[in-house]
Amino acid sequence: MNVTLTESRRVLRQLQLDEAKTKAERNKLGQFATPIALAADIIKYAKTLLPTDPKIRFLDPAFGTGAFYSALLQQFLPSQIVKAVGYEVDSHYGNESIKLWCETSLKLHIADFTQAVPPNSDLAKANLLICNPPYVRHHHLSRVDKVRLQRVTEEIAGIKLSQLASLYCHFLCISDAWMAPDGLAGWLIPTGFMDVNYGQPIKDYLLNRVTLLRIHCFDPTDVQFEDALCTSAMVWFKKALPPANHVVKLTYQGSLIEPKMSLMMSVKSLRQTANWTQFGLVSAGGNSPEQPLKLSDLFTIKRGLATGANRFFVLTSEQVYDYQLPKEFLKPILPSPRFLGVDEIEADPWGNPILENPLFLLSCDLPPDEVKTKYPMLWDYLQRGVKQGIRDRYLCKHRSPWYSQEKRPSSPFLCTYMGRRDTGRGKPFRFILNHSRATATNVYLMLYPLPILAQALLDKPELNKQVWQALNQISDQALMGEGRVYGGGLHKLEPRELGNTLVEKVFDIISI
Ligand SMILES: C[S@@+](CC[C@H](N)C(=O)[O-])C[C@H]1O[C@@H](n2cnc3c(N)ncnc32)[C@H](O)[C@@H]1O
Repeated sequence: MNVTLTESRRVLRQLQLDEAKTKAERNKLGQFATPIALAADIIKYAKTLLPTDPKIRFLDPAFGTGAFYSALLQQFLPSQIVKAVGYEVDSHYGNESIKLWCETSLKLHIADFTQAVPPNSDLAKANLLICNPPYVRHHHLSRVDKVRLQRVTEEIAGIKLSQLASLYCHFLCISDAWMAPDGLAGWLIPTGFMDVNYGQPIKDYLLNRVTLLRIHCFDPTDVQFEDALCTSAMVWFKKALPPANHVVKLTYQGSLIEPKMSLMMSVKSLRQTANWTQFGLVSAGGNSPEQPLKLSDLFTIKRGLATGANRFFVLTSEQVYDYQLPKEFLKPILPSPRFLGVDEIEADPWGNPILENPLFLLSCDLPPDEVKTKYPMLWDYLQRGVKQGIRDRYLCKHRSPWYSQEKRPSSPFLCTYMGRRDTGRGKPFRFILNHSRATATNVYLMLYPLPILAQALLDKPELNKQVWQALNQISDQALMGEGRVYGGGLHKLEPRELGNTLVEKVFDIISI
């Protein structure tokens, strides 16, 4: 099938079908099609949130002639769309759609979505739901319908909507039963729910039952649907409970792909704020209503490990060989920044860093007796440490056994702990991208992504590089402003200070 040709036919049919109805008739069922460019933007944006080669099970519960399905077919390979389901209550549009898309695998039901039975198994449920639901106001709904919708919504989403709620609120809640765990949903809905009282349960659902990723509010003066006369927002969420410290991206005006304003709000702040559209208005004046977000909203930052005696515990391959130290007690560790010639550390298939002079950290949790009997070579080496007075050093003395180390897993990003401006690089601090499983000593700060970022990196590993580049773009002034300067122009940055640095750019990259 030629998708572009079918899309031209669809657009023409949409016009003819709309013209065959009066405005009042279309109002009753919320029949206002999504403009083509917007449908394309929505699918383009969904693509950025999906894994690289997705296996899409698509659902549009208010299908119309299929603006989203058409955009989906244009932007994904047929092999990536494993299932597509639509619901359309009005056969006037539904029958035409069946004809239009008959050469595709679409299963379009001409039925009321709110009365349809959702699939039983998660595998049959949608992992991509895109919907521009009917914006039917409550006074167009019969009393019987209102009561039924209230009941179904409560059964499915555990939410009691007021009788003043518009049909789109019920659509959103009822769809919960149609989505697979971790599935992505994009809803083009009126902004009303963000401010009015009856929208509170929807906000509760978005903040507590799913992971709200982003809300884009279109410009109120640029009415998206010339004939629908209301301001719209695009709401994106994932069907999963929100991680701790979750932050949501709020964008305003411009387009979904290129918004004019953007800010990040923690779920905690959104819970405490009744009116969500106010942020856009305040931001328009250049004044953020909340503290801007910091690196600590994205990372747990820890100083690398303090061995107590690097020359004893950090060993070269030659030393490991000479002393015949057992592999199980050695972990790759990065050299200090002075001896690290690269800023991106590649790894071999076993996760070991590819470096000219690899180093290893010695750490063993076994008690002395066991080491003595099972690992005589290690025992001999430890006795050297005893003779050299390493065991009696402050840090070692306070560990049990003295030759075990703190647990510091490798981190994908590191920042140097101290530096001078007058080095060859002219920059006091460096960010390192670490693809290996090497840990680091306390000459580095280790940045461990919090769940919101960790998930994005897991879904799209290529983001690692972009996040690293964004970190490198943090100005020296910003970093030095947070850190301290010592005699001789030595700058130091403690974990908390690095955590206080602002990071607008990193949020933009992960766009969540
Ligand atoms: C805002 S339009 C969106 C159409 C199309 N998805 C688009 O984006 O252009 C909403 C559609 O939902 C249909 N609709 C209204 N009530 C419905 C219901 N209870 N079940 C299924 N579809 C419904 C309307 O007939 C209309 O075609």
